[in-house]
Amino acid sequence: MDPTLKLLAFLILVLANICPIKSDFSHCEKVVKNWAFSSLQQRVKEDKHTLRDLLFFLHVPRTGGRTYFHCFLKRLYANAQECPRSYDKLRFDPRKQECRLLATHDDYSMMSKLPKEKTSVVTILRNPVDRIFSTYEFSIEVAARFLVHPNLTSATKMVGRLRPGATGVSTLDIWPWKYLVPWMREDLFARRDARKMMGSIDIKRNDPYNMEEMVMPLQEYINDPRAHELVHNGETFQVAGLTNNSYFAESHEVRCCVQKHKILGEHVLEVAKKRLDDMLYVGLTEDHRESATMFANVVGAQVISQALTENSSMESAANSKSGQGSSHSESLPDNDDNQDSTSDHKADEIGSTEDLEEKKETMTVGKLMEAYEGCISSLRKTQSRRRKSSLKRISPANFSKEDRSRVSEVVIEQIRSLNHLDFELYKYAQEIFAKQHKHVVEKLSSMESESMFNNPGGITMWKFFSSAMCIVVLLALLFLFVNARRRMSKVKI
Ligand SMILES: *[C@@H]1O[C@H](CO)[C@@H](O)[C@H](O)[C@H]1NC(C)=O
Ligand SMILES: *[C@@H]1O[C@H](CO)[C@@H](O)[C@H](O)[C@H]1NC(C)=O
Ligand SMILES: *[C@@H]1O[C@H](CO)[C@@H](O)[C@H](O)[C@H]1NC(C)=O
Ligand SMILES: *[C@@H]1O[C@H](CO)[C@@H](O)[C@H](O)[C@H]1NC(C)=O
Repeated sequence: MDPTLKLLAFLILVLANICPIKSDFSHCEKVVKNWAFSSLQQRVKEDKHTLRDLLFFLHVPRTGGRTYFHCFLKRLYANAQECPRSYDKLRFDPRKQECRLLATHDDYSMMSKLPKEKTSVVTILRNPVDRIFSTYEFSIEVAARFLVHPNLTSATKMVGRLRPGATGVSTLDIWPWKYLVPWMREDLFARRDARKMMGSIDIKRNDPYNMEEMVMPLQEYINDPRAHELVHNGETFQVAGLTNNSYFAESHEVRCCVQKHKILGEHVLEVAKKRLDDMLYVGLTEDHRESATMFANVVGAQVISQALTENSSMESAANSKSGQGSSHSESLPDNDDNQDSTSDHKADEIGSTEDLEEKKETMTVGKLMEAYEGCISSLRKTQSRRRKSSLKRISPANFSKEDRSRVSEVVIEQIRSLNHLDFELYKYAQEIFAKQHKHVVEKLSSMESESMFNNPGGITMWKFFSSAMCIVVLLALLFLFVNARRRMSKVKI
């Protein structure tokens, strides 16, 4: 081979280093179409509205899934029912386990490890622009915690010491943070060192998204190959099973082809849409309250009745502790950005680890919602405290909602274009969400008195649950009272 040609080939390989494979269009088209065809063949045809034995929560990063995990799923399933090492890099065979709940950032290819016909999938999607902002901020937020250390070497050493034996799963072990955080960490230390070298510098305080003295500007972040690999169109890739973390070796080739030839993304999108169609539940980060209520009614109600019919006296426990008192539903912010911070200490430390074994009173949808409200507000408080103390280290780069609106239209447009598949998928998810809502309202109104639903909007539904909740609380109190009396008249062994 001609040496210059060789060099050229080498250069192309290096430039396209995320795609070190044969990727001309006709080859790629064949690869992607074959993948799409076989993926669509595998659709489960049974009733998707019925909860099956295993619930797989496909948690797309930065969609608020943490609150669903901690405030719903942790209450519905006992620890023993959770598949081992949820959220960790899973390389186990759940078919051998008796587990009922799997919550993870792993993508849809995980299904190849699960009993397909016995698995229900749920997910939450988010407006891609907000998701990108949130991903950027969270990468920096977690990385900034390391700035307590004098230098990168000692910070990195610290990580090694923190890890072994930790009870929770560290953010640094979880895809995609295990790549994004070290990247930002290195970057933050480099910028801090540069500032030290320069002596005093004058920081333009107006735009934290473009404050290169302190942090990598947003525009630089979104254009980095790592963001292309791990962040953009992440919702579509995750639902399709084509992330960089996929279980299938062939997924990497498909992803490469799609990144190289934009038009082939259509096939991926089609597969992702079909997968959403087959899911038990699809939530939207933006419609938080509606999504949560629906989750309780679609997923929660079925987990509860499943536990009841099985009557295995499982600890499908109510959690009365954190749902107390003042948790008024209307006081919640609709779209809190800090809601799915992945704790890097104990993942469970907030509100959900009270011994499930101790509480055997029967769970209801009303109680679930009530507990959720208390749980979510304490979770958000904790997360916002952590975020504040972390961002203090890179002050004045303090990312606020108002700052977002000042980011230039050029950058926003670029985010849109880099996430065009996610935009389409999100629109589709909104349609599914509306259908799902209709389905739930119809089902409930056929069950309950119709007069309460003469105005079938979300507000009505929500109000209905608030009043239902009051009744449930009264019943629960009555139950406790009767129970206490019974206990007093019996000698407890
Ligand atoms: C980094 O900090 C540690 C702890 O203060 C110190 O022992 C070490 O020499 C530093 N390393 C470098 C390369 O400055
Ligand atoms: C995923 O992406 C990261 C960051 O670009 C990279 O370091 C890693 O090797 C990739 N993993 C695979 C399986 O391609
Ligand atoms: C349910 O379980 C309890 C004990 O846990 C048992 O006494 C009861 O008979 C069971 N009911 C049914 C219908 O199996
Ligand atoms: C961020 O900036 C806003 C407005 O400038 C200020 O009110 C807020 O307290 C700041 N937050 C932090 C964590 O510094």
